Amino acid sequence: MTSFPPPQARALSMAAEQKTGVSHAVALSLLFFLFALLSPLARAAEIELPDGPDRSLIYAKCRTCHDLQYVIESKGISAGSWDGLLDDMEGFGVELTPEERERVLAYLSAYMSNTPPPEPTQVASGDATAVDGQSVFMDNCTSCHQEDAMGIEETFPPLAANSDLFLAEDFPLKVLLNGMTGEITVNDQVFEGEMPPFGHLSDAEIAAVVNFLRNSFGNDALAHSEITTVTPEMVQSLRASEMDPEQVLEYRASLIN
Ligand code: HEC
Ligand code: HEC
Repeated sequence: MTSFPPPQARALSMAAEQKTGVSHAVALSLLFFLFALLSPLARAAEIELPDGPDRSLIYAKCRTCHDLQYVIESKGISAGSWDGLLDDMEGFGVELTPEERERVLAYLSAYMSNTPPPEPTQVASGDATAVDGQSVFMDNCTSCHQEDAMGIEETFPPLAANSDLFLAEDFPLKVLLNGMTGEITVNDQVFEGEMPPFGHLSDAEIAAVVNFLRNSFGNDALAHSEITTVTPEMVQSLRASEMDPEQVLEYRASLIN
């Protein structure tokens, strides 16, 4: 006679399934909701990591499950401990290629460990034409919105076939500079998450990724008129009027109604 497996066995087989990565999206959304419930919602906007090469990789990879407060609180541990901690994070589902892992570890060891950080280097900000919006997207957005920009059901909204990109010329720029929090409906699906701010990206990178998105993933067909190109100067002037993530949500609502 067959019987249902006891609860522990089911939990174990679920855990095994998650390890295979088959239900990675499910595991990720579960974790995300867990953290949305448990986290005291330390203001993501206030958390800034020391500037250094590959800082943006930390912003891209380490904010999907928890905010960067965790990283700040562990500042001062040894490089070896960061290495071990990355193993733990990979066990929780962080996806890093060997090359990305090396860069993440190099940043954490240089700027967040118990050794003095290197002298700041002046990184050239680069002009708009030199920045490729697709690489900005791949490097910073796909851990949540996915490579095909389809998002993850109930957790991360799609940026493909999303007419919200055209709600107002400055709407996606404000989302990127300030983040956005609260319930939204995208293509009849409801999301209620936290889009972290990306103000650490350069003006040129923010402009480039918005121009890329508006012209890709079927979005261009949804523009009500000819798609205008946003410029780094526009991004720069928007930096002066800082908003909190809830205000960006209100701005979005005002554009829809
Ligand atoms: C897939 C989800 C996920 C992602 C992505 C993630 N973490 Fe975590 N992280 C966790 C979980 C779960 C915990 C809580 C572990 C605990 O409480 O023992 C945690 C805790 C931490 C802590 C606190 C550890 C402690 O013992 O206090 C640090 C530091 C940390 N993560 C760093 C990182 C870094 C750096 C990255 C990016 C490379 C990252 N995390 C990405 C899931 C994740
Ligand atoms: C840590 C996960 C995460 C990352 C990384 C991320 N986003 Fe988001 N994004 C979200 C969530 C969650 C929302 C929905 C926020 C809400 O419910 O209010 C969102 C919403 C948005 C919106 C508004 C969509 C709409 O229909 O109103 C835009 C535009 C956007 N993100 C662009 C980007 C871009 C561009 C990047 C990369 C530079 C990026 N996001 C990176 C999680 C993320």
